[in-house]
Amino acid sequence: MSRPELIKKEIFSIAEYVPGKSIEEISEGYGLDPATIIKLGSNENPLGPSPAAVAALIREAPRANLYPSADARELRVALSKYTGLPVSNIVAAGPGMDGLLDGLCRLLIEKGDEVIIPTPTFAYYELPARACGGKAVFVAREADYSVDPEKVLALESERTKLIFLCSPNNPSGNTLPEKDLRLILEKTKALVFVDEAYVEFSDRNFASLVPEYDNLIVGRTFSKVFGLAGLRLGYGLMPEWLLREYMRAATPFNVSLPALKAGIAALSDKEHLQKSIEMAREGRKVLGDTLPFKVYPSQANFVLVDVFPLKSKAVVEALLKKGIIVRSCDSFRDAGDSLIRVTVGTPEQNEKVIEAFGVVKRL
Ligand SMILES: Cc1ncc(COP(=O)(O)O)c(C=O)c1O
Repeated sequence: MSRPELIKKEIFSIAEYVPGKSIEEISEGYGLDPATIIKLGSNENPLGPSPAAVAALIREAPRANLYPSADARELRVALSKYTGLPVSNIVAAGPGMDGLLDGLCRLLIEKGDEVIIPTPTFAYYELPARACGGKAVFVAREADYSVDPEKVLALESERTKLIFLCSPNNPSGNTLPEKDLRLILEKTKALVFVDEAYVEFSDRNFASLVPEYDNLIVGRTFSKVFGLAGLRLGYGLMPEWLLREYMRAATPFNVSLPALKAGIAALSDKEHLQKSIEMAREGRKVLGDTLPFKVYPSQANFVLVDVFPLKSKAVVEALLKKGIIVRSCDSFRDAGDSLIRVTVGTPEQNEKVIEAFGVVKRL
């Protein structure tokens, strides 16, 4: 028995989010020892979390009976120091930056509203927008995956509420030029969400623009450089007027106490942060110089590889058999069928990836 008539109509139009494959799935599916599997499909930090964050988690475990502060104030104070912005511009968000996107759509999107999404990009943006009755309007990125600001602006309508820009973009790794962002911010009546999930690996960030514009939101996460994807912790930088409204719509206590404390500890461990950044920067150069296919220049902790004339699915499958998990981009809208996203691993992991791609190329 089921009662689909009770479900909102919008939900039936949502294509399910396709996550990267897990170690358990691959171990079971291919009969491999989980300890030998290299997971480079979800842009996680191969160094793991900061030891300071792990210690904070252990320290907080006995206090898990207590609610955290409703607005994660202590974490926002730490983030204020980290970003250089006042606490009044910062929201902490769980679960992850995805939670921030959910909260914003809950606040902004009514039936018939529109969001603009330059593709290919992170696939989640359209899901909460659609679930709230919104419509996603897509614009294809250029051949080098840059965004043409005029094309974005040309799609704006009376119903446009949000424009999603990702910098560095997932899966292409390129950043958005500041002048293009400013042009969009200045011409649009909508809010502009800049997703900076990978910002620490890049040479450009837009936090300092938040106090300048009343329509800029920057989304950030602890899932990538801080190695805390499993804790589901993110944050947003936004104008004060919007933050006040956001807090009305957001779920209280959405950041758990252990996540809050681990986040503060992670921000304080500059050594782990630096090591993680350097490893990704060096590794992406090695992959770019050595992989036997076209590799796009990246400002993130992953590289985009074009295996044309081979098909990404077949190559990913061949690598999976060797215990290497990378991401075929065929589920990303407008990404075609020959692109693979590879997370930068440790130097040893990268060596194995290079060797495996070499074998695939010779097949
Ligand atoms: C561009 C981008 N934004 C947001 C996220 C989601 O971040 P979180 O883990 O904080 O929900 C990801 C995760 O892969 C991402 O690639």
